Amino acid sequence: MGLTKQYLRYAASAVFGVIGGQKANIAYVTLRGGERGRYVAVAACEHVFIWDVRKGEKVLILKGQKHEVTFLCASPDGVHVAVGYEDGAVRIFSLLSSESSVSFNGHKTAVSAMRYDALGARLVTGSRDTDVIVWDIINESGLYRLRGHKDVITEALFLKDQNLLVTSSKDSFVKWWDLDTQHCFKTMVGHRSEVWGMVLLNQENRLLTGSADSELRAWDISYLQEEKAVGEPKVKKEKTLLDDDDEEDNEEEADESLEERILSCKKAGSILREARDRVVSLAADAKGRVIACHGNDAVLELFTVLSEEELQKTMTKKLKKAKKKAAKTQKDAGEEAAEPVVERMLKDEILKLTKIKASAKIRWVDCLSCAGGELKVALLLQNNTIETYSLKTSGRAPAANKTARLTLGGHRTDVRTLAFSSDNLAVLSASGDTVKVWNRSTLQVIRTMACDYALCSLFVPGDRQVILGTKSGKLQIFELASGSLLETVAAHNGSLWSLCLAPDQRGFITGSADQTVKFWEFELIKDQATDQKRLTVKHTRTLQLEEDVLCVKFSPDHRLLAVSLLDSTVKVFYTDSLKFFLSLYGHKLPVLCLDISHDNTLIATGSADRNVKIWGLDFGDCHRSMFAHDDSVMFLQFVPKTHLFFTAGKDKKIKQWDADKFVLIQTLEGHHREVWCFTISPNGDHIVSASHDKSLRLWERTREPIILEEEREMEREAEFEESMAKGDDPVVPGETEGEAAPAAKKTIDTVKAAERIMEALELYKEENRKLEEHKYASMTAVNKLPPPKPNPILVAFGNVSPSRYVLDVIKKVRSSELEVSLLVLPFPYVPQLLTLFNSYIQQGLEVELVCRCLFFLLKIHFGLISGNQMLLSVIDELRTNTVSKVQEIRDVMGFNSAALQFLQREIESKEDVMFFADATGQLAKRKRKRRKRERAILTIA
Ligand SMILES: *[C@@H]1O[C@H](CO)[C@@H](O)[C@H](O)[C@H]1NC(C)=O
Ligand SMILES: *[C@@H]1O[C@H](CO)[C@@H](O)[C@H](O)[C@H]1NC(C)=O
Ligand SMILES: *[C@@H]1O[C@H](CO)[C@@H](O)[C@H](O)[C@H]1NC(C)=O
Ligand SMILES: *[C@@H]1O[C@H](CO)[C@@H](O)[C@H](O)[C@H]1NC(C)=O
Repeated sequence: MGLTKQYLRYAASAVFGVIGGQKANIAYVTLRGGERGRYVAVAACEHVFIWDVRKGEKVLILKGQKHEVTFLCASPDGVHVAVGYEDGAVRIFSLLSSESSVSFNGHKTAVSAMRYDALGARLVTGSRDTDVIVWDIINESGLYRLRGHKDVITEALFLKDQNLLVTSSKDSFVKWWDLDTQHCFKTMVGHRSEVWGMVLLNQENRLLTGSADSELRAWDISYLQEEKAVGEPKVKKEKTLLDDDDEEDNEEEADESLEERILSCKKAGSILREARDRVVSLAADAKGRVIACHGNDAVLELFTVLSEEELQKTMTKKLKKAKKKAAKTQKDAGEEAAEPVVERMLKDEILKLTKIKASAKIRWVDCLSCAGGELKVALLLQNNTIETYSLKTSGRAPAANKTARLTLGGHRTDVRTLAFSSDNLAVLSASGDTVKVWNRSTLQVIRTMACDYALCSLFVPGDRQVILGTKSGKLQIFELASGSLLETVAAHNGSLWSLCLAPDQRGFITGSADQTVKFWEFELIKDQATDQKRLTVKHTRTLQLEEDVLCVKFSPDHRLLAVSLLDSTVKVFYTDSLKFFLSLYGHKLPVLCLDISHDNTLIATGSADRNVKIWGLDFGDCHRSMFAHDDSVMFLQFVPKTHLFFTAGKDKKIKQWDADKFVLIQTLEGHHREVWCFTISPNGDHIVSASHDKSLRLWERTREPIILEEEREMEREAEFEESMAKGDDPVVPGETEGEAAPAAKKTIDTVKAAERIMEALELYKEENRKLEEHKYASMTAVNKLPPPKPNPILVAFGNVSPSRYVLDVIKKVRSSELEVSLLVLPFPYVPQLLTLFNSYIQQGLEVELVCRCLFFLLKIHFGLISGNQMLLSVIDELRTNTVSKVQEIRDVMGFNSAALQFLQREIESKEDVMFFADATGQLAKRKRKRRKRERAILTIA
């Protein structure tokens, strides 16, 4: 033995082969200076790819971490993209830096809908966990969680002019929420089944919903805000903590009157789609002039929405026609008739525009209207393809032109076989219809060739041809230089499952479901057509077996041949005589993959029974059986020149093992669905794997050694953290599970943040104790004592004072996680924190942040704080100090706001346009709210 073995870590290097993931939508984005409609964002497993559809190139990757992307949405200014993930997290990426600086954690499961408001200041997210959450983008914090739906949220839309939100869900309901009160004031029950999508049209006076049938339902919305101004007698109510003061609000009325006061919503009719099945996605362009809708097939239906003026025009025309007709009938009949009436119908307002037939089933649609009445449509298809179309909306029955189709960078169906070229530089991948050869270093496609359904493959020595074995039992020989199919050989009568190159490189063997193993030799023959030599294969021998053959392998010394059979055994034969040598019994289900080590001593087998067995090839004894994966072991290969091997499973994982010590070395996680196969480069430095998630992944051997104990420890830790994050959400004491709840949820980060605050408080306490001791000692001592040494942490942070250090730690907590972190903080730390807050406020340090923390702590620990005599004086001081400091800040803000208004007027008068109008209005409102809230608390405290 001697030296201990050193294992080197393999690390994820790249994801390729995905053009557009099926889990998330497609969205147009703008890149700096780029023209509109040129770039689309789609999910690619955990990443987001941004494609330049004109050039067919991937121009940007927004890197994710672990969970798949389930929704994405571009901000109105085009600078950011919000990305929602399978685990419920939301991250905001900048398209300038492709970095993400903000992340929101609130949902328990996949994000299923997401929209910005018109200004890009708020984001609403809906999830499979049935919650809707509104986030403040500027403050980077959660505003509120809205509960009420009973199934997956399918759409959520902000209204432009009102502080309202409308959401739809698979629970068949559409709900209207008043965001001032975070209250659902209206539930529309007109759908009998899932609501799959909705759009707002005509200045938000019309709502169109798509459901499980061919009807698009239209609803008239009228806003009744005007009546509010009339004002009703105020109803005095019992005030609770945090309730808004009621100077101007009559929001807390009973539901019915509220609903009546805000809006009324009546069904106006419906538009019939041609498709009979459910709406899969429903989209409108930003102006709400065109609606695109599709079901579960390849046809996209487009409708135009007439504006009020256009509608007036057609109505006048209609009326004229009717009058003429009436006049005619009058003349014919010779009698007086009433003035004809033309009713305004929904079908006059929303007209069929055209249909687009895509080349495969459509998964998602996005549309964009551009200058000159041009409409651009981007379709994400179900077979890993993106297509874009353009059409003129103005014309009569316009035809849509296909402008781009992205197919090159990936396969339409799952890749079932992979192979590395002998020089480690090229990788072959083959699927149900195409074989591609990739440049390993650039991951660009070198060749794409049509093929039959491929199951196995190899590079012919010399790397100039490749051979595929197909499901129909054929061998297909391709030449890479010309990218052409040289020959198709009818080799077997059943699926050709396995190919293995002979160690002497002069031929190969094939194993098939027709219960035979066949031997083939390479041959060069003269092509009659071109008169040039070309490669062909010659069948030389056949080994007949009693069962279907699943996998075949030569031993590297060419002496033996291992064949796995459908009866779950592996039989080993002598290559020269084809005489039976050994049988390996033990697996309970068929062996799907096997490999023999470079020194001909070991054979490793992976089976559908989830186990891997390692056998000696000299006696056929089983050295060890290991439970390897949580599902069938699909592929297995030794790392060249070692006794280490990799396995891939239907459980999405790839694992590395030591065949001498029988230990698991490393688990490569990344694939989101079954892993079908992988290939290790001849030098052992690279692995490429393929999965049902459509992605191909490249893994690289690094120089980082793996220490097994540490690796296991890390795995346990990861497991623990996952379970911790899954734990129950913290509950605000005294608060019931209502319609509105805090937006964020407990995560590892929030727990860690709380721990950091606790540590900082401990440090502060310790330092204070030292100072006290010093003071006491100095009083009694004769000589002056040197001051105590400050804690090294404080020194490291630039000799800050202990109290300042606590504030710094709080400041470092992510804004979006602050409340939940404080919620996790045990109460015994709170009194000290309050005392500290008092001193911060006196010094005017971070008053806004401190107030935010203070009010939250007061709210959640109200009972404990008010019952604690010791805290009485602290609270009392806080009250006076906070009021005066907040007043100061208000004055500053008022000054700034006045200055901004002044600037706004200046700019408006100069440019003759309205500017900032909305933004400043909202700012003022928010400020007013904050002020009110503060006062409410302080009077109670
Ligand atoms: C998949 O996409 C390709 C090209 O994008 C198209 O030609 C083909 O018909 C589609 N196949 C299926 C099965 O939908
Ligand atoms: C679509 O193609 C036709 C014929 O190639 C052309 O006349 C028409 O202008 C194109 N339409 C658009 C919107 O590009
Ligand atoms: C792959 O790309 C690199 C860089 O462009 C190039 O140097 C190399 O020759 C390519 N390899 C193959 C096999 O095409
Ligand atoms: C396939 O089976 C048929 C009849 O069962 C037989 O005639 C034929 O030779 C077989 N072909 C091959 C390639 O084995």
